[in-house]
Amino acid sequence: MSARPILLVAGGAGFIGANFVRHVRANRPDWQVRVLDALTYAGDRRRLDGAGCELIVGDIAHRPTAAAALQGASWLVNVAAETHVDRSLLDVEPFLHANVLGVQRLFEAARLAGVAKAVHVSTDEVYGETRGGAFRETDALAPRNPYAASKAAGDLMLLAAWQTHQFPLCITRGVNTIGPWQHPEKAVPLFTINAIRGQPLPLYGRGAQQRDRLHVDDHASAILTVLERGEPGEVYNVAADNHCDNLTVAQRICARVGAPPSLIHFVTDRTGHDWNYALDAAKLRALGWERRYDFGAALDAAVDWYLASPDWWEPILEGEFQAYYDRQYGERLAGAEAFRA
Ligand code: TYD
Repeated sequence: MSARPILLVAGGAGFIGANFVRHVRANRPDWQVRVLDALTYAGDRRRLDGAGCELIVGDIAHRPTAAAALQGASWLVNVAAETHVDRSLLDVEPFLHANVLGVQRLFEAARLAGVAKAVHVSTDEVYGETRGGAFRETDALAPRNPYAASKAAGDLMLLAAWQTHQFPLCITRGVNTIGPWQHPEKAVPLFTINAIRGQPLPLYGRGAQQRDRLHVDDHASAILTVLERGEPGEVYNVAADNHCDNLTVAQRICARVGAPPSLIHFVTDRTGHDWNYALDAAKLRALGWERRYDFGAALDAAVDWYLASPDWWEPILEGEFQAYYDRQYGERLAGAEAFRA
């Protein structure tokens, strides 16, 4: 019997990573899945409970750790990243460490280890905002916040690695993703958890900005599609065409939870708040991928999961998150205007 091929998922204890691990375990039962994760504030080994994978705790920017984790691996998927825009406005250094230096070192280690194919998970934010029209993979990168700039830098390092070493890698650029186990700092889990607890939902500006929202299992199937069928050196946009403004999202969350919409509060906007991101995903669809969740199905599935899972999110609200929350929202919520239906 031949040995089972090994897939290393870097950042596999994060939100998209853990959902991807579960998607692979369910759909490719013959693969062995190994996770490398630094377990920063955003990583949580509980996301992998019962997932059937090995977990190595370590930093992708630490060369010996990356090399050891890659030993014997046929494939690499990198989902390890600092991802929260608001935190990048407070301190950008961790973003440079993970999203640029870490990415460079991890993929260099993968090349030296002879990995046959690698996928790097990036973001729609590298293209900058749009006020009409959807970005294609060939469009120029124009990031507008420190998080997005760090992801763009990582993408450029990897495209250079492909050009100079022909290391067979693909990049995916996904839209806002929602679903189980997303950290409570992000809009959909934050709004849902606050609605459940009867706390104010802090909506930036007037809530008019829009996002395209993709269910995390659809994002996972896109990554797997690109790993198996993507052309080396190519970038693939991942979009759901589920655009909706933030106020409507907050209202729908309140309705689903059974909370009064007057919990929604308009707070001082994020500086440099991108108006919208929109991607053309025709290139990915040409590989045979399609999304299963439309906007309502994706949002309702996410909200229902938080309603059913206080055991997961309640412990996260203490400690580090509490300090972050107070810093981010304390002043903003004092005297904020409530939404009137
Ligand atoms: P977020 O989940 O942080 O993702 P991103 O900024 O990467 O798109 O935010 C999604 C949208 O929700 C974005 O337009 C900002 C808005 N938002 C709020 O209005 N209030 C909040 O407290 C947060 C975290 C986000």
